[in-house]
Amino acid sequence: MKLRPKMCIGISLAPTWLSGEGWRQPDSGIEGLYSSDFALDTAKQAEAAHLDFVFRPDANYLPLPVLEQSFGFSSLDATLLMASIARETARIGLVTTISTTFGHPYLVARQLMSLHWLSHGRAGWNIVTALQGHENFGLPAMPPSDARYTRAIEFAEVVRALWSSFPSEALLVDRVSGRYADTAQILPIKHHGAEFAVEGPMNLPRFPGPRIPLMQAGGSAKGVDFAGQVADLVFGMTPDIASAKAMRDQLSARARAHGRAPRDIRLLPGLSLYLGETRKEARALFLETHRRVDRMQRVERVLSVIGLDLSEWPDDRRILPSDLPQPSTSNWGRTHRERLRRIVETEQPTVAELLARPEILSSVHWQVIGTVDDAFAEISNWFEAGAIDGFIAVPGGARSSLDLTLKALVPRLAEAGLFRKAYRSATFLGHLQDEDETARTNPG
Ligand SMILES: Cc1cc2nc3c(=O)[nH]c(=O)nc-3n(C[C@H](O)[C@H](O)[C@H](O)COP(=O)(O)O)c2cc1C
Repeated sequence: MKLRPKMCIGISLAPTWLSGEGWRQPDSGIEGLYSSDFALDTAKQAEAAHLDFVFRPDANYLPLPVLEQSFGFSSLDATLLMASIARETARIGLVTTISTTFGHPYLVARQLMSLHWLSHGRAGWNIVTALQGHENFGLPAMPPSDARYTRAIEFAEVVRALWSSFPSEALLVDRVSGRYADTAQILPIKHHGAEFAVEGPMNLPRFPGPRIPLMQAGGSAKGVDFAGQVADLVFGMTPDIASAKAMRDQLSARARAHGRAPRDIRLLPGLSLYLGETRKEARALFLETHRRVDRMQRVERVLSVIGLDLSEWPDDRRILPSDLPQPSTSNWGRTHRERLRRIVETEQPTVAELLARPEILSSVHWQVIGTVDDAFAEISNWFEAGAIDGFIAVPGGARSSLDLTLKALVPRLAEAGLFRKAYRSATFLGHLQDEDETARTNPG
């Protein structure tokens, strides 16, 4: 059962449509990648389609082998980028990514509240625990997942306490009496935890409007529990409807365990969209985008994800469930591993068929390679089945996929009553509550 009548939709500002070979097209505009105009253009298009938010994933390390062939993880700082977009847009939510593994909550609380002020209530925080980058922060190794979440929980607690430490009501700005603030209302947070000692208060008042929504990304048990505790939105990695339903159920259970309602959390999987006017065109775009991923690289991916070495296998040999090695118990790459094992278990593909799968060639996100009609049918099916509460569009292959997403697919969802036709709010939380308002006026 879906939890709301309308979806929540965001779009990634990482120019995913230029990854692989996409950036090499003559009109890709890749030279402008490190300018704000580049992302601004997409943000304006997304706002014209009334999306809930634009979103920037982010990392603090640079894998060089990837950079040989594409822009990889090289990017502007996500929060500064959002600040530059804030003044040029008026309605759309601006979700930045900041890791809790490397930074300090005082600085992060202030940065996010600054973005909230600069955008008049449109900031959002994607709380990640990061996958790599320890060498840039003086750490001998990446802390294990559990330790990263322990720190993330305390980090988020400190950030939220700092946001409340200087309420906007404390601002008097009384020219006659000369009283600027009622400092009795501005309180230290006196946080003394295992990870952080922060006295507070923060040196920036809270924005006098709706709060900053929180997004979480990470699928381990601890990650999902953390989402159940704090998240308004979850950026999920659910490659098929079964994994989305399972994730949705886990989120509902963890929300309840923390005294919240299932509908307080929206599951928004990343949705990779290779769109074309025809299926043939979309498939060609997908294959062209990944044409430099040769057989050896594909075989290596299968080996690293499920531990099966196909290097000596002929292309026409079928892979049977009995060929699968014992699954690793590590959390690392768990979603990808489970997805590939499920493909073998249910489809028993030949080697050539497995090596041609989108899950091998590109990401492990939910993927639609087809027409706008195909995407519409699949999205509405997942949504009506209650598996998702919306999605984060990750268009692939070329700018045309991005254009079809925002100018054809999203309007189609709006026309079908599954998404808003106009904004009714000017803040990010307002957009999320706007759906609640619709739910109240049209129950069921
Ligand atoms: C869909 C998704 C998106 C993520 N995006 C980022 C990101 O932009 N930056 C980052 O440092 N980590 C990112 N992560 C990593 C997570 O924050 C987390 O560290 C990782 O998934 C390990 O946690 P887990 O075991 O709970 O999955 C992402 C994870 C997922 C599943």
